[in-house]
Order: sequence, then structure tokens, then C-alpha cells
Amino acid sequence: MATVLVIDDNASIGTALDVLLSLHDIRTVHAAAPDEGVARLEAGDIDLVIQDMNFAADTTSGEEGRALFHRIRARHPDLPVILLTAWTHLDMAVDLVKAGAADYLAKPWDDQRLVTTVKNLLELGQATRELQKKLRRERRRHEELEHQYDLRGMVWRDAATERVLALACQVAKADLPVLITGPNGAGKERVAAIIQANSGVRHGPFVTVNCGALPSELIEAELFGAEAGAYTGAGKSRAGKFEAAHGGTLFLDEIGNLPPAGQVKLLRVLETGRFQRLGSNEEKQVQVRVVSATNADLRAMIKAGSFREDLFYRLNVIEIALPPLARRPDDIVPLAQHFLGAGKRLDSGAEAALLRHAWPGNVRELKNTMQRASLLARGETITATDLGLPAAGPAASGEPELDRAAVEAALARHGGVVAQAAGELGLSRQALYRRMERLGIARGAAS
Ligand SMILES: Nc1ncnc2c1ncn2[C@@H]1O[C@H](COP(=O)(O)OP(=O)(O)OP(=O)(O)O)[C@@H](O)[C@H]1O
Ligand SMILES: [Mg+2]
Repeated sequence: MATVLVIDDNASIGTALDVLLSLHDIRTVHAAAPDEGVARLEAGDIDLVIQDMNFAADTTSGEEGRALFHRIRARHPDLPVILLTAWTHLDMAVDLVKAGAADYLAKPWDDQRLVTTVKNLLELGQATRELQKKLRRERRRHEELEHQYDLRGMVWRDAATERVLALACQVAKADLPVLITGPNGAGKERVAAIIQANSGVRHGPFVTVNCGALPSELIEAELFGAEAGAYTGAGKSRAGKFEAAHGGTLFLDEIGNLPPAGQVKLLRVLETGRFQRLGSNEEKQVQVRVVSATNADLRAMIKAGSFREDLFYRLNVIEIALPPLARRPDDIVPLAQHFLGAGKRLDSGAEAALLRHAWPGNVRELKNTMQRASLLARGETITATDLGLPAAGPAASGEPELDRAAVEAALARHGGVVAQAAGELGLSRQALYRRMERLGIARGAAS
């Protein structure tokens, strides 16, 4: 139950407020003088103060009220204070509201208005405390992760990203193959580097192979090495990336593009740790941790016959699914600020534009956007125009409209329960609240 402290030398006012507020399940405690009121506050557990402006019988200047307000404010800057004032002190009350008082009510007050004001302030206080608690919890988790692990300069704030990072750090220690899935530019390579940095082989090499960058025979030579003359253009014998990654991590990027013959050989190395260079019969043995990544749907490729199922299960002992940037909206502004660098800031229009954009190119697109904006912006402040993002609004793409319908439909399906609707939409509860706010959908307005 919330508790309101009434500081007023007139006992009948205290009684009237007591009766009125108790009807709304709000407890009141009284203090007849400023010192007593301040002492009661120190004892704790007060959620709101209602204070008079005059205490001494011989003056009606309101000065004691002003002094009391400032004393309370100095010790409890976040505590809401409502001033009860005579009409002669309205100017002073207005000044004090500017100085941080929550509101003022002229005597005789309107009961309904007083109750509404008190209730709103109490609710706001409760919401603020919960938000602060949540932020503190998040900051602590953030610090714990950063303190315990080498996160390679990763920037994040969204809970979805945090889950990915926690999983990556957890599996880093185990010597198991990891498959990182996610769309273009989402940060898959960054996550692979984090796994390497926190693994038992962190002092070993980190070798990257892009399986989509070379034609079939060259990718095999790249991975396993080749003896001189093994294929056209193979001048002298050379080691492949598996040998180069011995004692460390081999990062197989775009694994979905590995041609069938390469898939067979890769499967064999994963099963036995053994392979041969092209054109050689000599077996080589390596200790290599394999981390692979793909933006392709490997399960669909297996169905279509273009990716080996047995290889998939070898690679995918642990899957880390990196969501698209749009699905972790809390990351967008911190990342944008990070790419912008110190000394430049985003105005609120720019932030709104960043949050509206769909980011098909994910973090890479955001990085490019911010680098361009940083070059083009004249001053230190980046505006929406500097970002050069496609104009938002229904006329441009129809997408915000779709979004709104999707959000409303999801809310309706879940009887307005935001947590459940958020689950269906793949958003965090906070992200959905923000989206609702942006779209002008009122909380609890589901029909
Ligand atoms: N959370 C992050 N904090 C800081 N930089 C990031 C973050 N995520 C990604 N980046 C940067 O964004 C760019 C794209 O990331 P990365 O190359 O890891 O994506 P990717 O998923 O491997 O992309 P692709 O599928 O195109 O290979 C890189 O410059 C990377 O350093
Ligand atoms: Mg990549």
C-alpha cells in the first residue's frame, strides 16, 4: 500500500485527506510542522508528500512552505511533492513547480482532482522505480559479461543480443563445433571472434575461409592444401587453412556455399581429424576447433539435396542464431552512436528514423549509414536528413502500416497481453512497448 505524508499544521486538513485517500487504498501519515515532516521522511517508506505553505500562525507569506519544499527536494530529489496553497500564493506555487514540485492544488481543493493527481504520481513513481531496477539489473549483467569475457569490442544493449553473447561465451570453453546463423551483416563473424577469444585455444591462430568466394577445386585446395601440379595453376605445394589453423580456430564462413565434394572432405576431417592435401596420399592430422556461419537456411538446403545432412549435424552441435538487427531494436541507437564516434551526437529525429528503418543489411548497413552521415553532416549533431535513409511513412513503402496492423492483430490475439504478443512477434516486451508508442497504440487498448 502506498503511503502519503501530509505536512500541515491544520489537523482537520490531515483528517480530510486521510478519509479521502483511504477510500482509494492509500495510507496517510501526518506531521504538523516542517521539522516533524522532514524527520518522518528520514524514517523512510513515504511515496509522496502533500504539504501546506503556511505554518506559523503570525505569517501567511508562504516562505515556510517554500523552505520546507527545498529541504525535502535536497534530500529526496525524486519524491513527488504536491503543494496545498491558498489562492494568494499561486505565483509561488507555480515557481515551485518549475523548481520540481509535482503539482499544486489551491484550497479548497477538488477531491476528484486531488485523488487523480495523487494516484497518477504514485503510479508514475512505481513505474519509474521498476524501470530503474530493470536498468540497474541490465547494467549489472552487462558489466558481468564484459568483466568475465573478452567481447572483442562488441556493442549491444538488447536482451536478445545478450542471450546470444552469453551462449557464445558459454560454448566457447567447450571444444564443440558451433554453427552461427543469421542474416547478412548481423555480426556472425564478430560472434565467431568472441568464441575464439574465450576458448581454450585463444592463443592459437584464428583462420577464416570464405566457402563461397572460390570455385570448387580451389576451395578444396584452400582448405586442405595442394601439392605442386595437383590442379591447373598449382605451381608449388602449399598448406591449406586446416593446417594453418592447427591449435586454433578455423572459421568457415558461408558454409552453405561449400560444393558437394568439399562437403564430403570436410565431413571426414570433422570425424577423424585427418585429411590429405590435393594430389597427395600423405595423411595429415590436425587439432582444429571449427566454427561455421551461414545466412542460408541449411535445413531447406538439406531438403533440396544441396547440403549434406550428416555434415550439418557435425557442424551444428551448437547453433547460435543471431537475430536480424530489426529484431533487437535496443541495439540500434547504441550501435549508431558507437559507429559515429565521440564528439558527434544524434538528435531525436535521427534516433526515430534509425528505429523506423527496417535494416535489411543489418549492422553492416548501420555502420555504413553512420560513416556516411558522419562525413556529410555539417555540425556535431546528426539529423534524420543526414542519415539519408529512405523516407518513412505509408506513402513510401507501406511497411509502417503493415507493422501497425501486425502489432494490433498480435495484441488482439493475445487479449492485449503484451508479453505474449511480443513473444509471437519475436520482440522483447520493451521493444513491443516502444513500437506501440511509435505507432500510437495505447497500452491496454486491445479489444
Ligand atoms: N555488436 C556489434 N558491435 C560492434 N560492431 C559490430 C557489431 N556487430 C557487427 N559489427 C560490425 O558490423 C560489420 C558486420 O559484422 P560481421 O562481418 O560480423 O557480420 P556477418 O554476419 O559476418 O556478415 P556477412 O553475412 O555479410 O558475412 C562488421 O564491421 C562488424 O565489425
Ligand atoms: Mg561474415
